[in-house]
Amino acid sequence: MANIPRTFDQIDQWKSLMFLYGSALKEINVKIEILNDEFIQIYKYNPIEHVKARLKSPESIVKKLKRYHYDVNVVNMTEKLNDIAGIRIICSFTSDIYQIADMISRQKDVTVLYVKDYIKNPKPNGYKSYHMVVTIPVYLSEGPVETKVEIQIRTVAMDFWASLEHKIYYKFEGDAPDYFQKELKACADVVDMLDAKMYSLNEAILAWNSRDQGTTEEKGLQDA
Ligand code: GTP
Ligand code: MG
Repeated sequence: MANIPRTFDQIDQWKSLMFLYGSALKEINVKIEILNDEFIQIYKYNPIEHVKARLKSPESIVKKLKRYHYDVNVVNMTEKLNDIAGIRIICSFTSDIYQIADMISRQKDVTVLYVKDYIKNPKPNGYKSYHMVVTIPVYLSEGPVETKVEIQIRTVAMDFWASLEHKIYYKFEGDAPDYFQKELKACADVVDMLDAKMYSLNEAILAWNSRDQGTTEEKGLQDA
């Protein structure tokens, strides 16, 4: 973030930073949209169900800095927080997640700072999702500024689970009674099973389609 003039007062720096993070979100959104469109064009298949982008609110930024005992200033904001710009990609199948993550990280101007794979290593509460913190350059008039974005990739089922868990977590301020924790864990197991079953059903459909195509091609009927 070297291009943010340090001489600006805190308010101006804050505004410039939020502008930067907002621009980074726009850029990553376009990248994801293009990848999805390309997929549709080549494979007639749309791996992304939907995308949600959000900028962290000033209240949440201050709360998080305080939670980690950092002074509230713009330097700590950029250095200590990785999720001021956040984007969530919701896809249909677990296999899409790794493909999308791979496609994003292979882009030349995307630098992956780190990955947290809560699909291979779910949290004890049952949370599953693939997290990547990346930087992408935002091209300002003075030059490019590498800007951090947190990308979360998960299936529709994982997202459904995470929103309910989030609701319960907030309702009980992080200390939900055993009953809710057990039920949530049970739901997480159902999510696993659903994702696995939907994946194999989809694989079966794909295998069926290619068998069909083969039969049509053999008969020379594909344009009929
Ligand atoms: P935060 O301080 O919460 O940002 O966590 P972190 O910096 O250690 O990063 P982590 O990758 O663990 O979590 C980042 C984000 O993932 C969170 O802000 C949530 O959006 C989501 N997340 C992580 N764990 C959970 C969870 O147990 N339940 C739900 N619903 N969301 C989670
Ligand atoms: Mg967060």
